[in-house]
Amino acid sequence: MKNILHIISSPRKEVSASRKLGNAVIEKIQEKYTDSIVKERDLTTSPTPLLDAAHINTFFSPAESHSSEQQSINKYSEDLISELKEADIIVIDSPMYNFSVPATLRAYFDFTSRAGYTFKYDENGPKGLLNDKKLYIAFTSGNIYSEGPYQIYDSNVPYIKNIFSFYGVSDVSVFRAEGLAIPGIMENSLEKAIEGIAID
Ligand SMILES: Cc1cc2nc3c(=O)[nH]c(=O)nc-3n(C[C@H](O)[C@H](O)[C@H](O)COP(=O)(O)O)c2cc1C
Repeated sequence: MKNILHIISSPRKEVSASRKLGNAVIEKIQEKYTDSIVKERDLTTSPTPLLDAAHINTFFSPAESHSSEQQSINKYSEDLISELKEADIIVIDSPMYNFSVPATLRAYFDFTSRAGYTFKYDENGPKGLLNDKKLYIAFTSGNIYSEGPYQIYDSNVPYIKNIFSFYGVSDVSVFRAEGLAIPGIMENSLEKAIEGIAID
Protein backbone atom coordinates (compact mmCIF):
# COMPACT_ATOMS: atom_id res chain seq x y z
CA MET A 1 0.00 0.00 0.00
CA LYS A 2 1.35 3.41 -0.95
CA ASN A 3 0.24 6.87 0.09
CA ILE A 4 0.42 9.14 -2.93
CA LEU A 5 0.33 12.92 -2.68
CA HIS A 6 -0.67 14.66 -5.93
CA ILE A 7 0.29 18.34 -5.99
CA ILE A 8 -1.47 20.31 -8.74
CA SER A 9 -0.43 23.81 -9.80
CA SER A 10 -2.16 24.65 -13.10
CA PRO A 11 -5.38 26.66 -12.77
CA ARG A 12 -6.57 25.46 -16.21
CA LYS A 13 -8.54 22.51 -14.84
CA GLU A 14 -9.56 19.86 -17.40
CA VAL A 15 -7.72 21.45 -20.36
CA SER A 16 -4.46 21.60 -18.41
CA ALA A 17 -1.64 19.62 -20.01
CA SER A 18 0.28 19.23 -16.74
CA ARG A 19 -2.82 17.86 -15.01
CA LYS A 20 -3.32 15.37 -17.84
CA LEU A 21 0.31 14.27 -17.57
CA GLY A 22 0.19 14.16 -13.76
CA ASN A 23 -3.08 12.20 -13.81
CA ALA A 24 -1.51 9.69 -16.22
CA VAL A 25 1.44 9.28 -13.82
CA ILE A 26 -1.00 8.68 -10.94
CA GLU A 27 -2.89 6.08 -13.03
CA LYS A 28 0.33 4.20 -13.78
CA ILE A 29 1.34 4.26 -10.11
CA GLN A 30 -2.09 2.89 -9.19
CA GLU A 31 -1.70 0.11 -11.75
CA LYS A 32 1.51 -0.89 -10.01
CA TYR A 33 0.31 -0.36 -6.43
CA THR A 34 -3.35 -1.32 -6.72
CA ASP A 35 -4.33 -0.51 -3.15
CA SER A 36 -2.67 2.91 -3.02
CA ILE A 37 -4.42 5.97 -1.62
CA VAL A 38 -4.25 9.28 -3.49
CA LYS A 39 -4.53 12.60 -1.71
CA GLU A 40 -4.83 15.74 -3.86
CA ARG A 41 -3.34 19.08 -2.91
CA ASP A 42 -4.80 21.36 -5.56
CA LEU A 43 -2.93 24.64 -5.07
CA THR A 44 -5.31 26.44 -7.41
CA THR A 45 -8.52 25.75 -5.49
CA SER A 46 -6.96 26.30 -2.05
CA PRO A 47 -3.93 28.48 -2.77
CA THR A 48 -1.13 28.92 -0.29
CA PRO A 49 -0.92 32.64 0.56
CA LEU A 50 2.04 34.74 -0.51
CA LEU A 51 4.59 34.85 2.28
CA ASP A 52 4.23 38.02 4.38
CA ALA A 53 5.75 39.39 7.60
CA ALA A 54 3.20 37.61 9.83
CA HIS A 55 4.09 34.24 8.29
CA ILE A 56 7.84 34.80 8.54
CA ASN A 57 7.60 36.04 12.15
CA THR A 58 5.61 32.91 13.00
CA PHE A 59 8.06 30.53 11.36
CA PHE A 60 11.03 32.11 13.13
CA SER A 61 9.60 32.39 16.66
CA PRO A 62 9.08 29.73 19.34
CA ALA A 63 5.67 28.01 19.32
CA GLU A 64 5.16 28.85 23.04
CA SER A 65 5.11 32.56 22.19
CA HIS A 66 2.57 32.34 19.38
CA SER A 67 -0.60 34.44 19.33
CA SER A 68 -3.79 32.68 18.17
CA GLU A 69 -3.23 34.10 14.64
CA GLN A 70 0.30 32.69 14.63
CA GLN A 71 -0.97 29.34 15.90
CA SER A 72 -3.28 29.03 12.92
CA ILE A 73 -0.49 30.09 10.50
CA ASN A 74 1.80 27.48 12.05
CA LYS A 75 -0.89 24.79 11.92
CA TYR A 76 -1.54 25.48 8.22
CA SER A 77 2.17 25.09 7.43
CA GLU A 78 2.51 22.00 9.65
CA ASP A 79 -0.49 20.38 7.96
CA LEU A 80 1.10 20.87 4.51
CA ILE A 81 4.36 19.38 5.80
CA SER A 82 2.52 16.43 7.43
CA GLU A 83 0.96 15.63 4.03
CA LEU A 84 4.46 15.49 2.55
CA LYS A 85 5.77 13.35 5.40
CA GLU A 86 2.87 10.89 5.16
CA ALA A 87 3.39 10.37 1.42
CA ASP A 88 5.45 7.48 0.07
CA ILE A 89 5.16 8.90 -3.44
CA ILE A 90 4.77 12.55 -4.43
CA VAL A 91 3.59 13.59 -7.89
CA ILE A 92 3.95 17.27 -8.82
CA ASP A 93 2.27 18.69 -11.92
CA SER A 94 4.29 21.71 -12.95
CA PRO A 95 3.85 23.71 -16.14
CA MET A 96 6.53 26.24 -17.08
CA TYR A 97 5.10 29.69 -16.34
CA ASN A 98 7.41 32.55 -17.29
CA PHE A 99 10.55 30.47 -16.87
CA SER A 100 9.58 29.29 -13.44
CA VAL A 101 7.06 27.18 -11.56
CA PRO A 102 3.52 28.63 -11.20
CA ALA A 103 3.34 31.16 -8.35
CA THR A 104 1.02 28.79 -6.45
CA LEU A 105 3.76 26.17 -6.30
CA ARG A 106 6.40 28.72 -5.32
CA ALA A 107 4.15 29.93 -2.47
CA TYR A 108 3.61 26.31 -1.37
CA PHE A 109 7.37 25.77 -1.03
CA ASP A 110 7.57 28.89 1.16
CA PHE A 111 5.27 27.12 3.63
CA THR A 112 6.95 23.71 3.45
CA SER A 113 10.63 24.74 3.50
CA ARG A 114 11.11 25.01 7.25
CA ALA A 115 14.14 24.22 9.41
CA GLY A 116 13.32 21.49 11.89
CA TYR A 117 10.53 20.12 9.68
CA THR A 118 11.71 19.38 6.15
CA PHE A 119 15.43 20.07 6.72
CA LYS A 120 17.80 20.97 9.52
CA TYR A 121 21.29 22.34 9.90
CA ASP A 122 24.02 20.63 11.91
CA GLU A 123 27.84 20.82 12.00
CA ASN A 124 27.94 19.21 8.55
CA GLY A 125 25.59 21.73 6.98
CA PRO A 126 22.01 21.17 5.82
CA LYS A 127 20.33 17.77 6.12
CA GLY A 128 16.99 16.76 4.60
CA LEU A 129 14.35 15.34 6.91
CA LEU A 130 12.01 13.73 4.35
CA ASN A 131 13.61 10.41 3.55
CA ASP A 132 12.62 7.31 1.58
CA LYS A 133 10.21 8.97 -0.79
CA LYS A 134 9.82 8.88 -4.53
CA LEU A 135 9.12 12.09 -6.44
CA TYR A 136 7.64 12.24 -9.93
CA ILE A 137 7.57 15.57 -11.78
CA ALA A 138 5.03 16.02 -14.59
CA PHE A 139 6.44 18.98 -16.50
CA THR A 140 4.85 20.71 -19.48
CA SER A 141 6.01 23.69 -21.52
CA GLY A 142 5.39 25.60 -24.74
CA ASN A 143 9.05 25.51 -25.73
CA ILE A 144 11.70 22.77 -25.36
CA TYR A 145 14.14 22.91 -22.45
CA SER A 146 15.48 19.37 -22.06
CA GLU A 147 17.79 19.85 -25.05
CA GLY A 148 18.74 22.42 -27.67
CA PRO A 149 19.33 26.17 -27.52
CA TYR A 150 16.87 26.83 -24.68
CA GLN A 151 18.32 24.23 -22.31
CA ILE A 152 19.93 27.08 -20.39
CA TYR A 153 16.38 28.22 -19.49
CA ASP A 154 15.55 24.86 -17.92
CA SER A 155 14.84 26.37 -14.53
CA ASN A 156 11.59 24.67 -13.51
CA VAL A 157 12.53 21.00 -13.16
CA PRO A 158 16.00 21.67 -11.63
CA TYR A 159 14.37 24.02 -9.09
CA ILE A 160 11.86 21.40 -7.93
CA LYS A 161 14.61 18.78 -7.81
CA ASN A 162 16.81 21.11 -5.72
CA ILE A 163 14.03 21.84 -3.25
CA PHE A 164 13.32 18.12 -2.76
CA SER A 165 17.00 17.22 -2.63
CA PHE A 166 17.30 19.77 0.19
CA TYR A 167 14.36 18.00 1.89
CA GLY A 168 16.25 14.69 1.54
CA VAL A 169 14.37 13.30 -1.46
CA SER A 170 16.72 12.40 -4.28
CA ASP A 171 14.82 9.56 -5.98
CA VAL A 172 13.20 11.61 -8.74
CA SER A 173 11.74 10.75 -12.15
CA VAL A 174 10.75 13.45 -14.60
CA PHE A 175 8.21 13.18 -17.42
CA ARG A 176 8.15 16.05 -19.87
CA ALA A 177 5.61 17.12 -22.46
CA GLU A 178 7.52 19.93 -24.15
CA GLY A 179 7.07 21.96 -27.32
CA LEU A 180 3.34 22.36 -26.71
CA ALA A 181 3.44 25.68 -28.61
CA ILE A 182 5.58 24.45 -31.51
CA PRO A 183 3.68 23.31 -34.63
CA GLY A 184 4.82 19.86 -35.69
CA ILE A 185 5.67 18.92 -32.10
CA MET A 186 2.64 20.16 -30.17
CA GLU A 187 0.30 17.68 -31.83
CA ASN A 188 1.93 14.58 -30.28
CA SER A 189 4.05 15.83 -27.38
CA LEU A 190 1.61 15.10 -24.55
CA GLU A 191 0.59 11.75 -26.00
CA LYS A 192 4.26 10.71 -26.35
CA ALA A 193 5.05 11.83 -22.81
CA ILE A 194 2.10 9.81 -21.46
CA GLU A 195 3.20 6.76 -23.47
CA GLY A 196 6.70 7.10 -22.03
CA ILE A 197 5.64 7.00 -18.38
CA ALA A 198 7.48 4.23 -16.56
CA ILE A 199 7.01 3.63 -12.85
CA ASP A 200 10.03 2.18 -11.06
C1 LIG B 1 0.99 32.24 -17.80
C2 LIG B 1 1.75 31.33 -18.71
C3 LIG B 1 3.12 31.46 -18.82
C4 LIG B 1 3.84 30.62 -19.65
N1 LIG B 1 5.20 30.75 -19.73
C5 LIG B 1 5.90 29.87 -20.49
C6 LIG B 1 7.32 29.93 -20.54
O1 LIG B 1 7.97 30.74 -19.90
N2 LIG B 1 7.96 29.03 -21.32
C7 LIG B 1 7.30 28.06 -22.02
O2 LIG B 1 7.93 27.26 -22.69
N3 LIG B 1 5.96 27.98 -21.98
C8 LIG B 1 5.26 28.85 -21.21
N4 LIG B 1 3.89 28.75 -21.16
C9 LIG B 1 3.24 27.61 -21.84
C10 LIG B 1 2.95 26.52 -20.83
O3 LIG B 1 4.11 26.09 -20.15
C11 LIG B 1 2.31 25.32 -21.49
O4 LIG B 1 1.18 25.73 -22.23
C12 LIG B 1 1.91 24.32 -20.46
O5 LIG B 1 1.43 23.17 -21.06
C13 LIG B 1 0.80 24.86 -19.58
O6 LIG B 1 0.44 23.85 -18.68
P1 LIG B 1 -1.04 23.74 -18.19
O7 LIG B 1 -1.85 23.46 -19.44
O8 LIG B 1 -1.03 22.59 -17.25
O9 LIG B 1 -1.39 25.04 -17.52
C14 LIG B 1 3.15 29.60 -20.37
C15 LIG B 1 1.78 29.48 -20.25
C16 LIG B 1 1.07 30.33 -19.44
C17 LIG B 1 -0.42 30.17 -19.32
